[in-house]
Amino acid sequence: MRLLVVCLGNICRSPMAEGLIRARIEASPLRGRVDVDSAGTGDWHVGQPPDRRAISTARRHGIEIGGQRARELVAADGERFDWLLCADGDNLDAVRRRIDPSCHPRAERLLVWAGIAAADVPDPYTGDERAFERVWALLDAAADGVVARLLAESAAAPRRSP
Ligand code: 4NP
Repeated sequence: MRLLVVCLGNICRSPMAEGLIRARIEASPLRGRVDVDSAGTGDWHVGQPPDRRAISTARRHGIEIGGQRARELVAADGERFDWLLCADGDNLDAVRRRIDPSCHPRAERLLVWAGIAAADVPDPYTGDERAFERVWALLDAAADGVVARLLAESAAAPRRSP
């Protein structure tokens, strides 16, 4: 299973989500069976590490994301990933413009896909540290929801024995 988290700059929300989801997957029975990546719909920060406030927020919660580098979403991501999980509705629209229509059913808002009551992860870029903490709390709940959904789906469709 391959998951791609998508936001606008790929320096705040999606790097934090990538780090959180990967950590939760590795601590679950799904360990080793799910690849997690992230990308941005914009190209301004390509090649850069996450925003320093995203890195410090993740570190406060025991997760290291400083090794990530931003990249821009490409059309081929539609085929390469099983799910393209977007931070908000604007990014979902941008993803759908970029990937083949046959891939659209596999693009969704992250919080909706994860079963969280909220729909959009607010952009913390112009906010302060507290904005990053609020986003972290949403993404933390989303990461639990992602693991729960994948576990439920893997129980419903167990891998065939050799
Ligand atoms: P992100 O936040 O989409 O969560 O990475 C942003 C980062 C950069 C910009 C906007 C949002 N920007 O306009 O440069």
